[in-house]
Amino acid sequence: MILSIESSCDDSSIAITRIEDAKLVFHRKISQELEHSNYGGVVPELAARLHAKALPDILEDVKPYFPKLKAIAVTNEPGLSVTLVEGVSMAKALSISLNLPLIAVNHLKGHIYSLFIDKQEETFPLGVLLVSGGHTQVLHVKSFHEINLIATTLDDSFGESFDKVAKMLQLGYPGGPIVEKYAKKGDAKAFGFTVPLSNSGQIAFSYSGLKNQVRLATLEHENPSEQIICDICASFQEKAVTHLVQKLKKIFKTQKFKNFAIVGGASANQYLRAQIEALCEQNSAQLLVAPLEFCSDNAAMIGRYALEAYKQKLFVGIDDIRVNPKLL
Ligand code: KG4
Ligand code: ZN
Repeated sequence: MILSIESSCDDSSIAITRIEDAKLVFHRKISQELEHSNYGGVVPELAARLHAKALPDILEDVKPYFPKLKAIAVTNEPGLSVTLVEGVSMAKALSISLNLPLIAVNHLKGHIYSLFIDKQEETFPLGVLLVSGGHTQVLHVKSFHEINLIATTLDDSFGESFDKVAKMLQLGYPGGPIVEKYAKKGDAKAFGFTVPLSNSGQIAFSYSGLKNQVRLATLEHENPSEQIICDICASFQEKAVTHLVQKLKKIFKTQKFKNFAIVGGASANQYLRAQIEALCEQNSAQLLVAPLEFCSDNAAMIGRYALEAYKQKLFVGIDDIRVNPKLL
């Protein structure tokens, strides 16, 4: 079995994945959303302190699995350096004390492998829309080893823009699920926001302009009624998703994907899922999504990726593992 650890942002999580059949035999996650919600976003030092308490608590639960372990896996990039260090330090300590090889996992590749939790086979080649708090990317995943970046954001990420809109409207953190909830009761035509880069042929994303349009709208409504808040959320969400769809339409014209996936925390958004599903149908592509509980950060996806790395003996020495906050 492989023990995997995730601490790249505000979720402390440990999973145990069985090597022979890819079965997830244990998974537990302690989220810090409540602690950060007062600040409208993740406070790195607070997050690190909470990981230092939560990770050892979860580790107690997995001690019975120690004799069966064959490797320790940990997210080492990208993420917040002070929180990544918490997981990496624990992984190093376990690797030394249990005399097990160490596997370093890129968090974004982990999100891709969230699609294959509990599944023995991967589905490749695969087009992927990765939408999280830190990234908005379209990727062509040809194999475990070959991932090509097709498009990325020029500024804010998709999930981050939801967080910032929620902060502007004082709705709490994380913004994604909250804005989506309010959007359901709102009129998407109430505010005339424009779709970013819609007249540009550029295959890239941008959310800072749309965020600014929302900021101006909130300034016009000092004490917004619940209906105004719902309308702003609905109008924002529609434009944010339309932006993704417009650029994906361009990409689908040149790339024929048989399989297309949405991964990352924001892939839980139902409006986004419905729009991408329609796009996939028009292009005869099959849509893949991870179970809702594995869209946001978790160690199960890290373990599923680590399983492939283990089969290929892609181990890293404890003195060689590096924490890279900003790398793909
Ligand atoms: O993948 P994730 O858990 O963490 C990162 O790797 O960043 O993604 C978290 C992000 C946050 O920005 C959160 O607001 C966003 O995903 N998110 C959503 C939804 N659920 C989470 N964004 C839009 N709609 C949602 N339903
Ligand atoms: Zn993530």
